[in-house]
Amino acid sequence: TMEVLGFLRLEASGPMVMVALSVVLLVLLKWYSTSAFSRLEKLGIRHPKASPFIGNLTFFRQGFWESQMELRKQYGPLSGYYLGRQMFIVISDPDMIKKILVEKFSNFTNRMASGLEPKPVANSVLFLRDKRWEEVRSVLTSAFSPEKLNEMMPLISQACNLLLAHLKRYAESRDAFDIQRCYCCYTTDVVASVAFGAQVNSQKAPGHPFVKHCRRFFATSIPRPILVLILSFPSIMVPLARILPNKNRDELNGFFNKLIRNVTALRDQQAADERRRDFLQMVLDARHSTTSVGVENFDMVRQVFSATECTVNPSQQHQPRLLSKPLTVDEVVGQAFIFLIAGYEIITNTLSFATYLLATNPDCQKKLLREVDHFSEKHPAPEYRHLQKGLPYLDMVIAETLRMYPPAFRFTREAAQDCEVLGQHIPAGAVLEMAVGALHHDPEHWPRPETFDPERYRCS
Ligand code: HEM
Repeated sequence: TMEVLGFLRLEASGPMVMVALSVVLLVLLKWYSTSAFSRLEKLGIRHPKASPFIGNLTFFRQGFWESQMELRKQYGPLSGYYLGRQMFIVISDPDMIKKILVEKFSNFTNRMASGLEPKPVANSVLFLRDKRWEEVRSVLTSAFSPEKLNEMMPLISQACNLLLAHLKRYAESRDAFDIQRCYCCYTTDVVASVAFGAQVNSQKAPGHPFVKHCRRFFATSIPRPILVLILSFPSIMVPLARILPNKNRDELNGFFNKLIRNVTALRDQQAADERRRDFLQMVLDARHSTTSVGVENFDMVRQVFSATECTVNPSQQHQPRLLSKPLTVDEVVGQAFIFLIAGYEIITNTLSFATYLLATNPDCQKKLLREVDHFSEKHPAPEYRHLQKGLPYLDMVIAETLRMYPPAFRFTREAAQDCEVLGQHIPAGAVLEMAVGALHHDPEHWPRPETFDPERYRCS
């Protein structure tokens, strides 16, 4: 035996080892580059042909919006793709979406995370998982109840008055101006006031630290070549990106964290009735226990409508429930960040698109103006519940704007366990993408999808 081993040692030395190792490495690389790409086929789901390492990345050259339409056109309402090795199952069939998000929801509570979300975003309800998601979501549900929203209305009106004053000046001068910038200032003021407890007039004070940090947060993006590397080799690149020093990221996190810590310390010193009634306060109040119960009560729309129809206060119906552990400062910052993500870009874009659609559809604009004028005569100081009933045409205009230009046009869910959805097998861990944009532009469900027609939503 010794002789044989000795012979092997002799033979395996030098260039031979190099060649053998290179061959093994190449075989492994070849396997790694394509081994992930048979899963969709096994599930019987059609998809564009995947390229080694990057999967269908090049299919998304034009951006996700165009590609989502293309996927639906070429492969139908159930299709798939790979980003790097990650498989996505894309769904734009309303029945299937309903099954996943309503009937079988308990198997799909988690969203997919890339692992690269900035800390406050990772701590927000958008990326918390399982039990903790449910607990924090119930804190938010109570903070968004109609009566709590009513308490926040004065803060929102304050920011709105500033916006109207700016718009009036532009209207009087009759000069062209960028309305998206005005909306951006308005939403920044609302977010600062409602979620971070800070009073800001961003149009007048663009150098305010809050305004500057918000702009920086949204200006930060991952350069394309790095993105390709991350998608192709996630198991190496994601941990690497997380540990590598990133001054910009740390500075931004530090700023928002310190702001919330300072405001929290101040609020804790104040008497309860002296505290500002904002979203931050609602979350701080609910740090230890929450009044709303489980997932079945998370449907805000139902709550809002039940509150307008009868006077029962929904959150009063439930006993307070202790959280398994109180919200940490990082988690409070995370929930305030939801406003930054949702309230800043999404609302700025929705307002801008609605304005554009009204400007290009003057008849709708006139009709809306009549409704709003009538409403303000009737309710000089409107409450939240008045908004629900008194402005049906505005509601239709917003719904049609969101149909045509949905800001969150794709979102994901992860399957916790193997399951069947309308005959389609979904394996545990699979990521399902709801193709909101493609569904909203499907002529089968929305005839003449490119036409702005708020009447689609008229309740007869
Ligand atoms: C036009 C406006 C908005 C649109 C189109 C929109 C859209 C969405 C979508 C598509 C989701 C993901 C749903 C899912 O994964 O099932 C979501 C989640 C969420 N949005 Fe919005 N959003 C808007 C405004 C807002 C605003 C203003 C806030 C709060 C300030 C907000 C707070 C949230 C929260 C807290 C979640 C997570 C809920 C959860 O985890 O259960 N959204 N939104």
